[in-house]
Amino acid sequence: QKKHAKPNAATSSDKGGIEGAVNEAYNKYKDLKEGKNADYIPELAKVPSEQFAIVVIAPDGKVYSKGDADAMYSIQSISKVLTLARDIEDFGPKAIQDKIGVDPTGQKFNSAVFVEENKGKELNPLVNAGAIAATSMVKGNTYEEKWNTILQTHNDFAGRQLSVNDPVYKSEAATNQHNQALASLMNSFERMYFDPAKSVDIYTKQCAININTKDLAMIAATLANGGTNPVTKKKVVSPETVAHVLPVMATCGLYDDSGIWFYNVGLPAKSGVGGGIMAIVPGQYGIAAFSPRLDEAGNSVRAQKAITDIVNKLGLNPY
Ligand code: DON
Repeated sequence: QKKHAKPNAATSSDKGGIEGAVNEAYNKYKDLKEGKNADYIPELAKVPSEQFAIVVIAPDGKVYSKGDADAMYSIQSISKVLTLARDIEDFGPKAIQDKIGVDPTGQKFNSAVFVEENKGKELNPLVNAGAIAATSMVKGNTYEEKWNTILQTHNDFAGRQLSVNDPVYKSEAATNQHNQALASLMNSFERMYFDPAKSVDIYTKQCAININTKDLAMIAATLANGGTNPVTKKKVVSPETVAHVLPVMATCGLYDDSGIWFYNVGLPAKSGVGGGIMAIVPGQYGIAAFSPRLDEAGNSVRAQKAITDIVNKLGLNPY
C-alpha cells in the first residue's frame, strides 16, 4: 500500500519493513544462477559467483544487511560516480557538461563508434571514454596528485581507508588496450585533459579499488544524505554537486539498460562489472547489492532484482 509514498515519508515503522524487505529479496534470489561473471578482465572471472549481499543504510547510519556483506570486490564503474562528484565539486557542473557531456549514448559502455561519430563530444562521465576524460580532469598536476585526490574521495564517501585490489588492477592493466584506444581517440579530438596513457592507468586503478557491500551502501547513503557521510559526518561534496551527480546516474547509470532500470525503479543507480550496484533514495536510504553474475548489458542480475524488489516493497520509487 506504500507504493506511491513520498520520498520523505520514512517513519520508524518503515525501518521495521526494511529488514523484512531485505530478507525477502535475499531469500527469493539467493539460488538464482542467471548471467555470468565478467571475464574480459581475467581476474573478475575468478570471483566466486555464488556471493550475494544486500545492504541498506538509513539516514541515521543504521545498517541493514544480509548475505556476504563483508566480501571484498572491485568497485569498477561505480567509481566513475565518485570521480564525477569530485570534478563537479572542484570545477562546477558546467565544466562537465562542456568538456565531457551529460547525455546517454544508447551504446555499450565501452563503445568507440559513438566517440568517433560524435568527435568525442556529447558523451557522459559514466561510459568508459567519458569516465577516462573525467579522471584526466581530476585536480592535481601529476599522476600521484590525481590518484591521491581520487582515492581520498573514495575513502571519504565510504568513511574508511580503502585500498586497491592489486591482482584486479594488474589484470586489467595488462588487458585494457581497448580503453587505451578510447583515450587516444578522445585525445585526437582534444577531449582528454591529461596524458592519455597515464589517465587510463589512473582510471584502471580507480576501478580496482576494493570495497564490500557495506562500503557501497555507505557511499550510496552519503549521496542520499546530500554529500555528507551519515556516520563520519564529513562533508565530502556539497548538496549542489549531488544534485548534478544523481541525474547523470538516473540517465546513464546502468549503461544501455538505464532506461529500463529507471522505468521500473525510478531511482538513480550505478552498476559495476565487479557485480555491485548502488541505488540512491534522495534524503533517505543508500541501497547496495552485490552478485558477480552479469547480464548482457554488464549489470549484475541478482543485484538489479534485489534492489528493484526492495524499492517496490518499501514504496521508495518517487514517481
Ligand atoms: O573499464 C572497464 O571496462 C572497467 N574497469 C569498468 C567497466 C564497468 O564496470 C562497466 N560496468 N558495468
